Amino acid sequence: MPFLDEPFIAALGDYQHEHTRAWSRTAQSYGGFLFVFPQYNWGYPAVLKNALDYLYREWRDKPASFITYGTRGGTKAAEQFTEVLHGLRMRVLDHVEAVITGDDIDGHWQLKDLDATFGSVVPTLAAIDSQMSQALHDTPTTPR
Ligand SMILES: Cc1cc2nc3c(=O)[nH]c(=O)nc-3n(C[C@H](O)[C@H](O)[C@H](O)COP(=O)(O)O)c2cc1C
Repeated sequence: MPFLDEPFIAALGDYQHEHTRAWSRTAQSYGGFLFVFPQYNWGYPAVLKNALDYLYREWRDKPASFITYGTRGGTKAAEQFTEVLHGLRMRVLDHVEAVITGDDIDGHWQLKDLDATFGSVVPTLAAIDSQMSQALHDTPTTPR
């Protein structure tokens, strides 16, 4: 997406650009979201915020979880992102903060041992799976 270039606030849904309408159609077609993003300088990436800011009703009332990761984890990004999800009036589920260091990856940037890196968060992933299933069951998936 370009840097936000819609003239009207997203809550109006009066999109002027085709790239926004296409993004809106994509977001509308999902009942819930699992965002995956790295921590950058104690925050979440700016391009992710930009993509969220384009829309509003497409997010509203839908369940949202996320996996954030960094060489020291994603605690700071998680705090900020959680606030944003509340601002979008999403139904915030549990989330995962993963530590991925240089020791976890091989020479081709692949994780060497999935269990060693993510084993400790498996229970949280299972909880998210269950929460998301329940939320999707409770929520109509037709666009509002
Ligand atoms: C601009 C930048 C800032 C970063 N800041 C943090 C940070 O604050 N905390 C952290 O744990 N890792 C930080 N990292 C490390 C990244 O989270 C890590 O390299 C991650 O694998 C990057 O994901 P990507 O390859 O999908 O961009 C930073 C990396 C970049 C490029």
